[in-house]
This record gives sequence, C-alpha cells and structure tokens, in this order.
Amino acid sequence: MFGKIKISDKIFWTGVNDRRKALFENIWPLPEGVCYNSYIIVDEKTALIDTVDFSAGRSFLDTVEKHLEGKTLDYLIINHMELDHTGEVSGLLKKYPEIKIVGNINTRRIFESYFGATSNFLDVGKGETIDLGYHRLGFVMTPWVHWPETMMTYDRTEKVLFSGDAFGTFGALNGGIFDDEIDFNFYEGEALRYYSNIVGKYSGMVQKAFAKLAGVEIKCICPTHGPVWRDNPKTIIDLYDRWSRYEADEGVVIVFASMYGNTENIADYIARKIAEAGVKNIRIHDVSKTHISYLIRDIWKYRGIILGSCSYNAEMFPAMEHLCREITHAGLKNRKSGIFGTFSWNGGGVKNLRKFAEDIKWEQVAEAVEFKGIPADGDYSKCDALAAAMAREINSKIP
Ligand code: FEO
Repeated sequence: MFGKIKISDKIFWTGVNDRRKALFENIWPLPEGVCYNSYIIVDEKTALIDTVDFSAGRSFLDTVEKHLEGKTLDYLIINHMELDHTGEVSGLLKKYPEIKIVGNINTRRIFESYFGATSNFLDVGKGETIDLGYHRLGFVMTPWVHWPETMMTYDRTEKVLFSGDAFGTFGALNGGIFDDEIDFNFYEGEALRYYSNIVGKYSGMVQKAFAKLAGVEIKCICPTHGPVWRDNPKTIIDLYDRWSRYEADEGVVIVFASMYGNTENIADYIARKIAEAGVKNIRIHDVSKTHISYLIRDIWKYRGIILGSCSYNAEMFPAMEHLCREITHAGLKNRKSGIFGTFSWNGGGVKNLRKFAEDIKWEQVAEAVEFKGIPADGDYSKCDALAAAMAREINSKIP
C-alpha cells in the first residue's frame, strides 16, 4: 500500500495503522487510532523486528514477502511479547518454518505459552549479537517496560534503536511516518496518555533502561507505536525521561465527582480563585464524563491536583474511587494536592480522599474543605485558602 518506507538502505518500516479499534487493550480509547510498527532488515541475512496486531494485519505477511524479494526470513526478533506486536507470529511460523525466534528467557516463556514449544529459539539475554552481514545487532535488556520480557534491539552499524513500546505514542500515522514529516504537537498529548496509562507504573524501570542506554549513540529511534524518530530523537527521549522522573508542568488539574452539581460548583469556584491568583493552566474534569485515561494523563502532566467528591453510600463517589485506585496503582509521585467535597447525609467523600492522599504521600497544600449540603455565600473561606495555597505551590512568583 505504501511502497517501501526506508529507514536506511537495508532497513524498512513494515507497520500498519489501526483506525478501527475503539479501545486499546480493550480499555483505552483510540480517538486518533494507533499504529503498530514493525521493521525489516534485508541484509545478507534477514530479520523482522516485531510484528503487528492480528486485527490490523490484513496484508502484513504480503508486505514482508515483498520486502524479502525472494529471500527467506532468517530471524524474528521479539522485543515485546504483547499481542499487539505478536499478532502475526503464527502466520510467520507457517510461512517461514525455519525462522529463528530471538528474545530472552522471559520472551521464550511467554512465547511458548502463546504459540507452543519451539526448538528454534535464540536467547540473546546475555550480551549476544547477531551478524546480518552489513548490520550487526546487539540487544539491551530493559525488563518491565512494561512487561517482564521487554528488550530493545540496537543496530550497531547505523546506530538505530528499535525500542519496543518505549518512546511510543497513541495515534495512527497520517501519512507522515518520521518525526520530520509530522507536527508533533498533534501527537504530544497522546504520547503522554500512552506513557502515563501504559508505561507510567514502571517509571522506575524506564529510568533503569535509560541508565543502560547511557553513552549509546542513537541516531534513530524506531518504536512499536507512533512516529519514527530519525531527525531529533532527543525530543522523545527528553519527554520520556521527564515523565519517568515524575516531573510536571506548572498547572492544576481539578477532578470532581458530583451528582447534582453542588460539588461541581465548588470545583468552579476553586478554579476561578486559582486563575485570579495568576495560574493559567487549569483543567477541570468531571470524573463521570471524561475517560480515566485522560484524567491520568493530565494528572501526570500538572504539578497541582485537586480532587473533590460528593459522598455516596458513606464512601467517596465510585468513579472517584476508581481514579484514586488507578493513581495509587501507577505510583505517581511528587504532586501537590488539595481535597474538597460534600457531606450529603453521612460524609465519606472527603474522609476517604484524605486517606488516599495520606497513603500516596502527596503533600496537601491546605486543609481539606467539606460542605454540608449547599454552601452559603460567604462560606467559602476555606476554598479561598486552598486555592491561594495551591497557586503559591505551583508558581513561586505568586505571593
Ligand atoms: Fe504495544 Fe505493550 O504493547
């Protein structure tokens, strides 16, 4: 369909776009689609690096065959076993029964649980290299980014890093495949949504991967999702480094849970006061309306987080409870927090939000605010204090 997409003389992109799937991993919405990148090296020996999701495979095997131009496929390198990248393995095994599967011991364990025992497996987990002729491949073990077997393939000849999910983004490739062919502003929000929801929990392991890559010259990054970084790979390296160190932008996210609008009114009031104090980046989300992946993304992005919940059956609102559980699961650190809510007939919202903030060790910038029923005019002094404290915390220039 595309013709040949050259990464270099012997390396080609063999990925596919997927604009049909509604939910990635059957959880995460894909309004802009997604792509599954695969790469083939056609040298004296040939190697395919990762495959694609079966549902989007369509002509994938034909594409591989066309690139091989009559040669056989010698190696299938599996940087990551998740099925969005191994969907075409069964087809390849049928077509190229002599193919050598390349991975590490965890790859093999997972591979055999999905595709059956193989005697044709090459374990490269201990520093082995593969010589293709002109290209010489090394392998960097980067476990838990974001599965236990994840690794990266590094072409020592042309300094190309095949990074698996690391440095990936949501979003199909709309014609432009390389970073110099796209406006990355279109992808950046989806890149962070991908990072924060798929990889973020393993940020510590991302930092370990960075340590292993220190000093490695990288001219081009070929991830399994999103654009290929041949012009300025530092852009996505710097973003991933920053996100995995939990660094955040100046701004405040307010997420509220409200049944009849009273808790929402308080959210608007607090936001207005923060804006009056001089903070420009403020996002308000209704936890019942906005998909949690966008909430997690914005919470990853901004330094200030204010959560507000009505009470529901003497607990916090169920959707807010879900959000708190996911944030805890992700282990996000270094955020300034505030809490507010409404008591209804027996409380539970603020009480449990406070416990969440204590458990996750987020600093609370001011006393939690709780209203019984509808707050009266003149009743908002604690909201004023919360807004002022939050504004000062995230912008040191605010007095
Ligand atoms: Fe893109 Fe973890 O699979």
